[in-house]
Amino acid sequence: MNIIIRDLRFTYPTGLEALRGISLTIAPGEQVAIVGQNGAGKTTLVKHLNGLLQPTQGSVHIGDWDTRQHPVSKLAVRVGYVFQNPDEQLFSQNVGMEVAFGPKNLGYPAEKVDALVKDALALTELSEKTETNPYDLSSTWRKMVALASIISMDTDIVILDEPTTGQDAVNVRRIAHVIAALRERGKTVITITHDIDFCAENFERVIAMSQGQILLDGPANEVLGQEEILATTYVDPPQLTRLGLRLGLKETVRNQEEFLTAIRK
Ligand SMILES: Nc1ncnc2c1ncn2[C@@H]1O[C@H](COP(=O)(O)OP(=O)(O)O)[C@@H](O)[C@H]1O
Ligand SMILES: [Mg+2]
Repeated sequence: MNIIIRDLRFTYPTGLEALRGISLTIAPGEQVAIVGQNGAGKTTLVKHLNGLLQPTQGSVHIGDWDTRQHPVSKLAVRVGYVFQNPDEQLFSQNVGMEVAFGPKNLGYPAEKVDALVKDALALTELSEKTETNPYDLSSTWRKMVALASIISMDTDIVILDEPTTGQDAVNVRRIAHVIAALRERGKTVITITHDIDFCAENFERVIAMSQGQILLDGPANEVLGQEEILATTYVDPPQLTRLGLRLGLKETVRNQEEFLTAIRK
């Protein structure tokens, strides 16, 4: 299902205008990374997709639904949002209950709930931890519980707000694996990230934001090659991309494979 955002503006009650005219279309099954400096408006933007925030001006459509005409509880059928901080999201006594809460709440029959929970736990490597209280887990695993509790709802659209922040290399790989699995299932995945290598390795489309507006939006290689524009929103291209630019490679490269291919030419 398409996400269509038209000239979206949003002002917080404090009077701060956090989004200043965002227009954006995301097609079904696209994997998009959103980058940009702190305070650029990334979280404010994605909170409009599941109705946590409503446009001050402009509109947000999730498929044929205008978010202003559907409550958060209904939008949850279409859009799953993994909070940056799992502690804002988790509340159940154990991992199994936490991951089952979403699909139960959507009113799915018990058998379907069981199947969804099992699948989400397996994907996030939590199958052995169903009886554990999320608060007895490390912050790394709490992150995975937050992820699992959204995956179990099987929404067409999944939003991850800074999933890799504060995570070790092993967990970053786990999260990349989950994103790859969601891609194979045809899910739309929108990920806010500060980790530019993670962005380069896992996303084909990159959106760079600054001060409530979109600076760049396009294929990862094109966007990540715009070193000067990215610098205005405090984003450095990946190291290999910068090295490629220094070397004067004709194509922008994102990873070792692309780098070596370009060098051989
Ligand atoms: N609840 C809030 N009330 C008032 N201002 C807010 C609130 N949340 C965020 N902001 C402000 O809105 C702007 C965008 O914030 P945010 O969307 O969180 O940016 P990002 O996710 O890109 O770091 C920032 O200036 C931030 O201080
Ligand atoms: Mg944020």
